[in-house]
Amino acid sequence: MSECKCKQLEAQVDYNLLDKIIDEEYGGDKENLIMILQAIQKEYNYLPKDALVYLAEKLSLPISHIYEVVTFYASFSLKPRGKHIIQICTGTACHLKGSDKVVKELCSRLKVEPGETTEDGLFTIETVNCVGACALAMVSVVDGKYHPSTNQSEMNKIIEELSQGE
Ligand code: FES
Repeated sequence: MSECKCKQLEAQVDYNLLDKIIDEEYGGDKENLIMILQAIQKEYNYLPKDALVYLAEKLSLPISHIYEVVTFYASFSLKPRGKHIIQICTGTACHLKGSDKVVKELCSRLKVEPGETTEDGLFTIETVNCVGACALAMVSVVDGKYHPSTNQSEMNKIIEELSQGE
């Protein structure tokens, strides 16, 4: 039986880097938990389980509390995500501009479902609700950068440019 894709993408945690984030950047203070989690996610594009266990020990917090926080905020991911995160807004304004069709074609091109990561670990495709820029519909957010008036050919161009950059 072949290993699940998520396992293959699981990050190797760098504990020195975690120490730097937790102690140097945030003073080892549990009050900074959310910012520490954001910083860890910025490094790995998701929150590796080993990092959360280590964080719980360092901050003397129950691991269950950390999971409660992580699962409360939609912006945190417990699943390995690709190097490039492509989010497509499927809110009403963007839906009316054809975002569902763009998602469908993109997923079929990359052979994934929304929420999944390509086998090479390069792209994660996510659908999101209104990102607050309806006047620019249809909006996509690629690695945190907003792309207004995205259509299928624009999306193909983005994918090609990112693939070539590898
Ligand atoms: S519906 Fe897409 S930005 Fe508002």
